[in-house]
Amino acid sequence: MNRVQEFRKERCLTQDRLANEVGISRKYLSNVERQLAVPSVELAFRISNALAVDIDKVFFDIPKMAVSEYPKPMKYIDLFCGIGGFRYASERAFKNLGIKGECVFSSDIDKYAQKAYEANFGEKPAGDITKVDEKEIAGFDILFGGFPCQAFSICGLMRGFEDKTRGTLFFDIARILKEKQPQAFVLENVKNLASHDGGRTLQTILETLRDELGYHVDYHLLNALDFGLPQKRERIIIVGSKNPFKMDWSFDVKTKKNLYDILEKNVEKKYYASPEIVAKRKAMHTPKTTPSIWHENKSGNVSSYPYSCALRAGASYNYLLVNGERRLTPREMLRLQGFPDDFKIVVSDCQTRKQAGNAIPIDMVSMVMERFIPMAF
Ligand SMILES: C[S@@+](CC[C@H](N)C(=O)[O-])C[C@H]1O[C@@H](n2cnc3c(N)ncnc32)[C@H](O)[C@@H]1O
Repeated sequence: MNRVQEFRKERCLTQDRLANEVGISRKYLSNVERQLAVPSVELAFRISNALAVDIDKVFFDIPKMAVSEYPKPMKYIDLFCGIGGFRYASERAFKNLGIKGECVFSSDIDKYAQKAYEANFGEKPAGDITKVDEKEIAGFDILFGGFPCQAFSICGLMRGFEDKTRGTLFFDIARILKEKQPQAFVLENVKNLASHDGGRTLQTILETLRDELGYHVDYHLLNALDFGLPQKRERIIIVGSKNPFKMDWSFDVKTKKNLYDILEKNVEKKYYASPEIVAKRKAMHTPKTTPSIWHENKSGNVSSYPYSCALRAGASYNYLLVNGERRLTPREMLRLQGFPDDFKIVVSDCQTRKQAGNAIPIDMVSMVMERFIPMAF
């Protein structure tokens, strides 16, 4: 329960004005006032400051939630961890919420991803998750995982997630949730998950999480472009908690990075396309803005944007060209996903490109977590 509306009216502030002052949408503020959305602790401070009232008076229960109701530390597991996108995202969200996080288990089958993860986080992830006994995993509070999307073979008489999901990597998430019963989870997948196998794949996942495992679940398609990263990357985020919750998926992110923030100044010659390719591209296309990232689609049509199209694990290297002239460097690809520059690159360019293409947009997932976690615990 909060008293934002009462104090706002007392100060003769319109919703528009207060929302503007604290950098959120009017709609989100309205949801906060109607007790439909629970702001992060950091946002609660901003609102209270703007109202010039002590946070305790405006938000009765938020300090209590932050101080005593979150597990100490918040233990999490990082499945299909890749190079740790979820780890960065969660650590950022935890920090903003005043929570201390602790990763108690991570897993990725790819030896180059393991190497990069170990170099950056000091822990070597376990390998193939299908070979990990869920009983051997330490207890944890929240599960993170961006799992590969595979079709389920659903036979008429099959009942329960063991029958429906076995043989897919989602089964491994489900069996770990069933055994360890964490309070919450955050999962990520490609946009295509919603239409995969005529919608049955997502349906099976949601039914398993809700009906078989007893979680309250919500999901949404989000685009990294809306979270301040100059990359059009649409991903489905699925969140679940043992607590009922009402997730507000509208985010109004004011601070946005642009290509100037991403592109390196001095780029080695090896990243430049041949003069023939550059000439061919430039003959086909004139950009509206510079810098821009040129995209060649499957039919060979070229278009350019002041942001990047979605990085892909396999192919981004050749179909995306900065200003029609050169490939993105591994560091630029990592920046497009929100990885900080102190992320150590310890594997080849080719492996780093694949890893960056596989990763999650950190800024997007951390903002979702920051909003979701206070409702989930
Ligand atoms: C979409 S990527 C996730 C990337 C990660 N979220 C990040 O931010 O870097 C999926 C990952 O699942 C891993 N993977 C695939 N099969 C696996 C298995 N059987 N066991 C563990 N990891 C697996 C892949 O190696 C890949 O790194």
